[in-house]
Amino acid sequence: MANAMHEPATIFIFGASGDLTRRKLIPAIHSLNCEGVLHPNTRIIGTARSELDHAAYSASLLEGVADYARLKPGMCERWDIFSERIHYQPGEYDSPSTYAALEALQARLDADQPPAPNRLFYLAIPPSLYPAVIEQIGRSGMNQTPGGWSRIIIEKPFGSDLASAHRLNEQLHAVFDESQIYRIDHYLGKETVQNILFLRFGNAIFEPLWNRNYVDHVQITMAETVGVGHRGGYYDRAGVLRDMFQNHLLQLLALTALEPPSVLNAKTLRDQKVQVLQAIRPVAAEDCVYGQYEGYQTEPHVNPGSNTPTYAALRLHVDNWRWRDVPFYVRSGKRLNAKTTEIALQFKSVPHRLFSESGPLPPNRLSLIIQPNESVHLRFDAKRPGSGMQAETVNMVFRYDSHFGEYALPDAYERLLLDALQGDASLFTRSDEIELAWQLTDPLTSGSVPQTYPAGSPGPACADALLARHGHRWVPIEPSSAPGTDEEDD
Ligand code: BG6
Repeated sequence: MANAMHEPATIFIFGASGDLTRRKLIPAIHSLNCEGVLHPNTRIIGTARSELDHAAYSASLLEGVADYARLKPGMCERWDIFSERIHYQPGEYDSPSTYAALEALQARLDADQPPAPNRLFYLAIPPSLYPAVIEQIGRSGMNQTPGGWSRIIIEKPFGSDLASAHRLNEQLHAVFDESQIYRIDHYLGKETVQNILFLRFGNAIFEPLWNRNYVDHVQITMAETVGVGHRGGYYDRAGVLRDMFQNHLLQLLALTALEPPSVLNAKTLRDQKVQVLQAIRPVAAEDCVYGQYEGYQTEPHVNPGSNTPTYAALRLHVDNWRWRDVPFYVRSGKRLNAKTTEIALQFKSVPHRLFSESGPLPPNRLSLIIQPNESVHLRFDAKRPGSGMQAETVNMVFRYDSHFGEYALPDAYERLLLDALQGDASLFTRSDEIELAWQLTDPLTSGSVPQTYPAGSPGPACADALLARHGHRWVPIEPSSAPGTDEEDD
């Protein structure tokens, strides 16, 4: 993964007046600038349909920076200079004149200011507009940058099923080479997700245990307290499987399960993830359960009587040498009792009980808390001090904030934008990964009636039953993410 200063580029943001630009993209670019890792000649040309007054536009971006950037304007005084390099050009996305105007604006600015000839296109627009923008970029010839590069970043959702994702890949490939395409899964930009590789392959002590000989099962949880909010229209068509499983959850699973690449680059890493996705067994009907939170059907833009799941739990199998017979339990839901994303490896029990005074000891567990309270916990047993031979379950904890400091964790978008500017696609999903993930989730996205669960609960009862059938229990979903407090699991 590259470290050198990237070449100066013009970032064209389609959807420049939208939420993503204000809450994520500009704040991330501002923080990169404050860190001194953004090339000083980087320029932004935003486009959207509305006519916007430049001063008002800039003021609204600054508000976004103040509210959402990791490094606030008060912590870094670079906004005033940087904001002079942000420009706005209104236009219709399907009109050739928009692209002619964008190109002319770049040429004019390149003549007046230090040039930024390379092009990074960022599609921060609804997916229904992707085809028109991709086609117009191609027709205008803006995908060709003589003497420089052009790249495109596409947001999720990438398609709504295998067929539509395949079509979108074809549309992209008609204009861009795969090496120019950066498909975002913002989870891959999270530090703690990248740390999965470091933890596994940068240490000698974990990897020897990371397989069917020692791991009993794996649990991956993505729990949210929020509901669908103002996104009811989108969500009611998508549901939790398209919204969280096809992308974020399967990516976490792939990183947890993959084989070590011999060198680390975009190709080797993504090849290894593809191997995992290919090895996941099609999911049996009895291994999927669905839930819907109480009150979902009265959310704005949700169909009354909707059967869209807001929660799902699956029992998956990765059919390869390393993971044969090790179940991967994965779950995600909205309006649960706490927000936490966690990967837990539950190890097998010791083969022989030596400390019988203590009763059965809970097995060891390694928990990677992806967010919030980013940390790694290792649960094990220790002798309780005093006479006798009683054991007690204890936790060894590494916390990011106490070790690296409060503002040390960059926002995922910072990392991803910088990588795209540097031409490193390791943390972006390749076309074959996306299609394999859809192939897995497509059969799961229709037909079942979800079980209702109370908002603020850990999810539907059927999810507990799914694990109980196999003698397992879910790791409790806890706000403080203090794994290891449940002692009774096997
Ligand atoms: C998005 C989903 O991709 O990820 C949202 O569309 C979800 O529904 C969000 O809330 C979760 O992201 P994070 O980073 O807040 O865990």
